[in-house]
Amino acid sequence: MHFIDILVNKLIQSLLSIVRRFLKSPLQLTFCGEGSTEQLVAHIVRGGHKKILLVTDKPLVELGLAGRVVEAVKSRGAQVVIYDGVLPDPTVEVVTAGLHSYQQHECDAVVALGGGSSIDTAKTVAAAATNGGVEAVMGLFKIKIAPVPLFAIPTTSGTGSEASWFAVVSDTHTHQKTGIGAPALLPKATALDASLMTGLPKSITAATGMDALTHAIETFIAPAANDEVRSMSLPAAEIIFANLREAYDNGANLAARESMAMASYYSGISLNISAVGYVHAIAHQLGAKYGTPHGLANAIVLPHVLDLNIEAAGKPFAELADVIGVSVAGDSERVKAEKLVAAVREMNDALDIPATLTALNVADIPDLVKEAAVEGRTYSVPTVLSRDQIESILNKLLA
Ligand SMILES: NC(=O)c1ccc[n+]([C@@H]2O[C@H](COP(=O)([O-])OP(=O)(O)OC[C@H]3O[C@@H](n4cnc5c(N)ncnc54)[C@H](O)[C@@H]3O)[C@@H](O)[C@H]2O)c1
Ligand SMILES: [Fe+2]
Repeated sequence: MHFIDILVNKLIQSLLSIVRRFLKSPLQLTFCGEGSTEQLVAHIVRGGHKKILLVTDKPLVELGLAGRVVEAVKSRGAQVVIYDGVLPDPTVEVVTAGLHSYQQHECDAVVALGGGSSIDTAKTVAAAATNGGVEAVMGLFKIKIAPVPLFAIPTTSGTGSEASWFAVVSDTHTHQKTGIGAPALLPKATALDASLMTGLPKSITAATGMDALTHAIETFIAPAANDEVRSMSLPAAEIIFANLREAYDNGANLAARESMAMASYYSGISLNISAVGYVHAIAHQLGAKYGTPHGLANAIVLPHVLDLNIEAAGKPFAELADVIGVSVAGDSERVKAEKLVAAVREMNDALDIPATLTALNVADIPDLVKEAAVEGRTYSVPTVLSRDQIESILNKLLA
């Protein structure tokens, strides 16, 4: 079975490397810093959009963050319709309801406000509106016609969805996640406005920050990583190690929040070429089966997958150890790699991330292993993990 996984992985990677040569990222305008939300809205209205669908969730409406966007749109003479039906890990049903709202109100642009769940919902609505519905765009390269104009205002620093060509939508009944991917899914413009993030609760700051770190590490160590990817994911990891603890301990620290927003954004760009790896392949199954928040599942799985890559990814691990400042002169590559993994474990501890997952049921492990192995072999990874290795990781997560 492991031999088949390796073979399939090689085939998929060869195909993807050919496809990647033809992919060009559309341009994205990025506003950042104080007032960037309003600058983005001004840009949208100047572009001639008169009725905007604001895709968000109820907590963000209640916190008044959606109100800030609504005010910015109305004060510039355009109209806004709120779709606040987004739930964490959006399902086809959630996205379809957003599409109906877009069509029923005859909107002419989509603005996402929120974490990855709101941004992915908005991306899918924008693509579905021009391509014959939600089901028609589920999967890779299914988007034939340009989506309706799409803009993103992230309020978490984790998924990098504002900068990526991907969206993740779950099956309404099984909660199995499907990736939607195409360069056309990149929002036309984004605002990295840390003032929207200072109230992010501690547990969400921790989980989303570790999602961003997982993106930085998985994209950096991927054999598919090119110089462009490495030039973003390496500083992203450096910034996260320097700022995530502070953002967690003192959420009102705007400078730390700004740094995390930039790091998450850089990691999101890296995802477009390198994609993720086995941390995500395993974490996605935990999210689908138990509803474990995406970033939390990644954080718990990350050190275990890194342990299994100390040999194969020794060189990039050593580079990461150097930039985050845990290595000292004279350390061998192996020692540096081990120090990196230890630093990731220390980060999890500092963020109060548990080492085990209470929801994990031993009887589910065979199915989780199967699904994770099938997903994992589609990524560019230093080591194609065997099913025994995935099983041993899951066994270590049992409470
Ligand atoms: N498209 C991509 O490239 C990509 C990459 C990784 C993950 N994802 C997907 O993103 C989703 C997870 O996104 P997420 O981790 O950002 O979380 P989320 O969007 O699900 O939000 C989590 C919770 O945080 C709250 N929240 C968000 N911002 C807040 C703020 N500023 N203040 C207070 N509360 C706030 C939300 O209301 C929600 O209850 C998953 O579905 C995952 O599969 C997508
Ligand atoms: Fe992720």
